[in-house]
Amino acid sequence: MKTLQNSIAVLAGALVVLAFGSAQAQDQEITYNTHVGKIINENCVVCHREGGIGPMQLENYDQVRPWAPLIQLRVANREMPPYAYDHGIGIQDLEGDWRLEQEEIDAVVAWVNYGSPLGDADIVPPALDLADPTAWTFAAEFGEPSLILPSIPIDIPASGNDLWTKHYVESGLTQDRCIKAVQVKPRGDARAVVHHANTDILVPDEEGEYVAYGYLTEYAMGKFGELMPEGVCRTLPKAARVHWDIHMFPGGVGATAEGEMITNNVVEVALWFHEEDYIAESKPYKQDLRPYVMREGYENDMLIVPPNGYTMTQGFHSFDHPVRIDSYQPHGHLRMNAASLEIFYPQTGRTEQISQISNWSATWHHSHIFDQSVAPLLPAGAVLVTKQWYDNTAANPNNPDPDQWVVEGSRTGDEMSHAWIAVTHLDDAGYETLVAERKAQQDSTLAGND
Ligand code: HEC
Repeated sequence: MKTLQNSIAVLAGALVVLAFGSAQAQDQEITYNTHVGKIINENCVVCHREGGIGPMQLENYDQVRPWAPLIQLRVANREMPPYAYDHGIGIQDLEGDWRLEQEEIDAVVAWVNYGSPLGDADIVPPALDLADPTAWTFAAEFGEPSLILPSIPIDIPASGNDLWTKHYVESGLTQDRCIKAVQVKPRGDARAVVHHANTDILVPDEEGEYVAYGYLTEYAMGKFGELMPEGVCRTLPKAARVHWDIHMFPGGVGATAEGEMITNNVVEVALWFHEEDYIAESKPYKQDLRPYVMREGYENDMLIVPPNGYTMTQGFHSFDHPVRIDSYQPHGHLRMNAASLEIFYPQTGRTEQISQISNWSATWHHSHIFDQSVAPLLPAGAVLVTKQWYDNTAANPNNPDPDQWVVEGSRTGDEMSHAWIAVTHLDDAGYETLVAERKAQQDSTLAGND
């Protein structure tokens, strides 16, 4: 595997040298100060800095230089920045997309092939003004959260089996609120051991008994939060209890804390609300996030990935009203290696590819948020087709043991087969308005191109 990756990087490098060969003769060469410093500052330093989650710092030339060959490999393979989502397939317009442009990848690869030069000392690559690495993702945009709900602290031993904690905390809300953005964040060292942390909502019924209301949000390693589109309401109802379901993995998964006891683990959910009169003023559509399960491909009602073998699962879901698909986030564990989302339109018999992730890894869970101008609009009856693939062979670099039978379960070594999808529930009028807006937009773009 490594050798294959190496030869791909070398091949990519060779092509880039050819492509840049003549340009280089005319232009200045690609240096850290002219090209690469800016790319790294903008795309890498947020994690690769003091206090960041990356294993090393890449804040200046002296720090970057020794890592150049590994940077070339990881960038050429699109493994860094860590955002697995296929190019050229389905919707490419995503919010919070960390992927580099092809020209940026080419520049980094060429720079390393030229010997990673510093370049003209008079040119200083522009730096980004970065927030504190422990700060909330949405603080820059929306300020401090409207509400932070911490889980109850728990200690995690250095080694042993997976652990779970399930408990609830009171929200203390006195009226229904619409959520604008939400982020779940393990506090401090907890980020090394928290594999996932789901929150769901309980509300009191007429007798005051707490009953399930729905999901609040989902967190899995490497996820940076969820942003709701304009004009929708993801509700946190008054008097809600937030129920935590936190899964921890002693020793950490690919993390910095291997072999250390981690005490006092707390996960926090931060919520940014719309104004109190948002529902009355904006008449938003209801949006919800929930898991859509895939059961096709199960054997005798069981998800089974045989030793040294593969499995594929598939699920279908349709709605009796029009909807908009706002985000998509596949979920699985160490054997899962690919996922896709398609829409089948029974009216036309056409299938549309929405998203494909061919190099999925459980280290990074991204909610792929579709840009509002392209988020799929589904008429009633259209079918969401979700697919996931599992590779239990030694060729899967995340596979801890290809000789095991893997079945469905919540331990990291088990597998799961569902995708989290945020859906805005429209009515006919709302659907038609959105379709008309899209069409007007397309017509004006086409007219502009004349
Ligand atoms: C969201 C955080 C994040 C961003 C952004 C990010 N990295 Fe990383 N990087 C990590 C983490 C965490 C690891 C360790 C886990 C892994 O290897 O996947 C890592 C590992 C690496 C490694 C491998 C180090 C080793 O010892 O194997 C390289 C090289 C690297 N990153 C380079 C980059 C470059 C170059 C960029 C920007 C183009 C970048 N990273 C962007 C978080 C990040």
